[in-house]
Amino acid sequence: MIRALLALAVVALLTGPAARQGSMPAIDTCGASTLAAGPDDDLYCIELLPAADLDASGTARLVPPSSPFGIAVSAAGEPQHDVDLTLRDLPAPSSLGRYTALVAWAVTPQLRPVVKLGEVRNGTVRVGRVTFDRFIILITAEPSAGVLEPTGRSVLRGTSASLRMQPHDMAFLLAGLLDRADTPAAGHDHDAMPGADGWTPPPMHPEVSMPRAFMALRPDVASYLPSPGEAVPLARPRELVPLADGGTLTLVAAPVRRVLFGRTVTMLGFNGQYPGPLIQVDQASTIVVTFVNQTDFPTAVHWHGLRLDNRFDGAPHVTQEPVPPGGSFEYHVRFPDAGIYWYHPHHREDVLQDLGLYGNLLVRSREADYYGPANREAVLMLDDLLVAESGPVGYGQELPTHALMGRFGNALLVNGEPRWDVEVQRGEVVRFFLTNVSSTRVFNLSFEGAARMKVVASDVGRYEREQWVHNVTIAPAERYVVDVRFPEAGDVTLVNRVRAIDHMMARFFEERHVLGTVRVAAAAVRPDHGAVFTRLRNHVSVSAEIEPFRRHFDRPVDHELLVTLRTGDLPFPMGPLLNLESVYRNPVEWSGTMPEMDWVVTGRNVHWVLRDPATGLENMDIAWRFRVGDVVKVRLVNDRAALHAMQHPIHIHGQRFLVLSVNGVRHDNLVWKDTVLLPTGFVAEVLIDVTNPGKWMLHCHIAEHIETGMRMVFEVDQ
Ligand code: C2O
Ligand code: CU
Repeated sequence: MIRALLALAVVALLTGPAARQGSMPAIDTCGASTLAAGPDDDLYCIELLPAADLDASGTARLVPPSSPFGIAVSAAGEPQHDVDLTLRDLPAPSSLGRYTALVAWAVTPQLRPVVKLGEVRNGTVRVGRVTFDRFIILITAEPSAGVLEPTGRSVLRGTSASLRMQPHDMAFLLAGLLDRADTPAAGHDHDAMPGADGWTPPPMHPEVSMPRAFMALRPDVASYLPSPGEAVPLARPRELVPLADGGTLTLVAAPVRRVLFGRTVTMLGFNGQYPGPLIQVDQASTIVVTFVNQTDFPTAVHWHGLRLDNRFDGAPHVTQEPVPPGGSFEYHVRFPDAGIYWYHPHHREDVLQDLGLYGNLLVRSREADYYGPANREAVLMLDDLLVAESGPVGYGQELPTHALMGRFGNALLVNGEPRWDVEVQRGEVVRFFLTNVSSTRVFNLSFEGAARMKVVASDVGRYEREQWVHNVTIAPAERYVVDVRFPEAGDVTLVNRVRAIDHMMARFFEERHVLGTVRVAAAAVRPDHGAVFTRLRNHVSVSAEIEPFRRHFDRPVDHELLVTLRTGDLPFPMGPLLNLESVYRNPVEWSGTMPEMDWVVTGRNVHWVLRDPATGLENMDIAWRFRVGDVVKVRLVNDRAALHAMQHPIHIHGQRFLVLSVNGVRHDNLVWKDTVLLPTGFVAEVLIDVTNPGKWMLHCHIAEHIETGMRMVFEVDQ
């Protein structure tokens, strides 16, 4: 009797809470999410259907693995999902033949490779991790639980949402959008010179063809580029500007000449530099910056991530009137937090920031060992630029182009240059301060070669503890601090690897761009920090600072925001095409594979929306009010039903927040943030530490999205 009870207890321990809960007949079908406002089931829940003569049923929920970044992907850019299976009415394996076990698998449509997820029973259980663009979940009856491949009878089967993508040819044929001249080869000859309308179309993606019907489309705004002139100075690389407390600096935003890709182009720069000066200050200091606007647009300078005085936040029409061309404004900038921050124009970012107006602020901590030891620091600003034969593709004069996807560049830049190279000694630890300043591109960075990397800090300080990583996923406006050690002589390349989608052909393909090379010399570095580097540091002071916030983690949210889109008249055939493509949306749209389509949609055609479901109010009509000392929990919901659902990096001015959970998965290594990536159909809960009085913006950091509506203001009373 006692033995039987003990055996039961052991079984209960082994199967765990999830399995026990599932042993009751759980009602779990896709579309009836178990979370209050869960991730989108259409993308992240797979209905499992039984083989013809069976009654079994089930679901496979795709759960994002906890990650220090906004989304978990492999170094190659493939999405990573943990799989929660909920299974009902499974037959006894022996009732199907000479079988003893039911086993779950994930396979690609080609049936290779196969990932064994494990033996399953009725109930809910977390099985292995899947790292495929598209896949089939299979449950089979097998002669033994130890088999390495599915060989037995199929019991349940379901397919990932990405398998719903179909080539567009049939739909296009029906819509009369294909013509015979539209072979891929013919499609690539159109990197035209500026037309009579002033527009130079963007070059096509080298691997994706497009129907001719799109070629004649033009944005319904005028083209803008800064005018070249003999007097425009040649830009020079950025300079380090250390400033003491009370230090002053004049920042002039003006046209510069750049030599890029073998031609001279006119862009913009702060103080004639690319990127803008790297301003280095001590934590808790204040500097005075006089901004002089010599661009063609009224604008203001925003000090991204800083909890500074509201009147110096640089949000036009919210904290100040925009500085007109020829005007100036004096900013008093203070630095309460250590880390890496940046500055950029806050009005028509889609033009001004994209043309080169951005710079970093490196804030030194008062603690000597704030970070672990490193031999060298590298401050990298990651960007992309959309260039045609004649130079940068024009920008919308009145309103942004690229209003749906944001402007993807076809050339990647590191600190304003197509290549970044450095020579180091063997065994060096290099601390990278990474900032993504692109309009819309999410980077997925990794080192190819002998390198070991750990993530140390993000937007507004350090993680609770350092963590080994293979790749860094960084959304627009985010920052990550990573320490990398190069233990062997030789070249190590810094690459961006992502999975792009060719919607026309319904296929995923890899994009791999080399951003730079680390040349590791044979001579060993001194001092060698190798031994210290192998240990992951716990930042106990960070955990201690977060401690008082923990009691808020599980309470109900105070506010919700739905992130969505309204479209007006789209240039034909964009409407039908978007409908066609919306059968599947990637968690992150990593690349602009249809440059011409992206280009022609402007701020006249689409309106991006933040909606407060509690009041129905949207964007600048939302008027949340808080008090200094409040701790505010907000749920961000990315509306997968939007006609062009995609990821949004959501940024909050003047405060800091914790990302508590993503799709219900609790983050267990917290860090203070000012920007969070919200992938398509995802739900994130953030906890805002309200410390700073004033009127503050909350917006999407995709330049074309903030300019086409996706922004709001909340007010904090003293
Ligand atoms: Cu860097 Cu309001 O943004
Ligand atoms: Cu957005």
